[in-house]
Amino acid sequence: MIQIFHVAKKFGTKAALEDINLKFQKGEFVFITGPSGAGKTTLLRLIFGAERPTEGQILINGINLNRINRSRLDPLRRKIGFIFQDFKLLPRKTVSQNVALALEVAGERPSIIRKKTRQVLRAVGLAKKEQAYPLQLSGGEQQRVAIARAIINDPLILLADEPTGNLDPDITREILLLFRTINLKGTTVVIATHSKELLKNTDQRIILLKGGKIVS
Ligand SMILES: Nc1ncnc2c1ncn2[C@@H]1O[C@H](COP(=O)(O)OP(=O)(O)O)[C@@H](O)[C@H]1O
Ligand SMILES: [Mg+2]
Repeated sequence: MIQIFHVAKKFGTKAALEDINLKFQKGEFVFITGPSGAGKTTLLRLIFGAERPTEGQILINGINLNRINRSRLDPLRRKIGFIFQDFKLLPRKTVSQNVALALEVAGERPSIIRKKTRQVLRAVGLAKKEQAYPLQLSGGEQQRVAIARAIINDPLILLADEPTGNLDPDITREILLLFRTINLKGTTVVIATHSKELLKNTDQRIILLKGGKIVS
């Protein structure tokens, strides 16, 4: 599903990632961890096609991101959900409108959009908040809106950058369960986190990055 071969990413002369080799299977649930500055966000952005590697190759479902042009990258990206560290919700749009956006951009029919929006908001436990605005929600609720928005396209891959960064432990457990549920439906889930708390008692695969290199 995701294959990464000898990938390096430099910003100027500074290497954010060096010689990364990884394979993620369909339906896998993986944590990428390591201290701040280790390269976690950069790795997610490379998989999403938001950055290009300086060296090496990334294949998504056999498609080489280096060789793909814009018109083919967009449809591929629709199969990848990205949950940003700072959520990136639109403050002047309601919860429903924020979540529906991806389907509107894709030109989906309004009746389908309404149905799917309700469905994912129910899945993340926010059915009652569909008319609220992001700033009227708690951090945990905003995070769930970001998750709903990322899964509305039924993505093959879900990438989450520090998804429980500012949330208290109870909410963190809830959010993790939500990812697990999404994963059990077949979506490959990759979570970047510096939180040791999140990794306690997990039996999932953990990739440890330090200074841009895979340590274990
Ligand atoms: N757009 C950028 N321009 C310059 N340097 C960057 C950029 N993005 C990341 N870096 C650098 O790359 C390294 C890895 O950053 P990042 O991937 O954000 O780490 P993490 O998410 O693990 O904290 C850091 O040294 C960071 O300063
Ligand atoms: Mg980061």
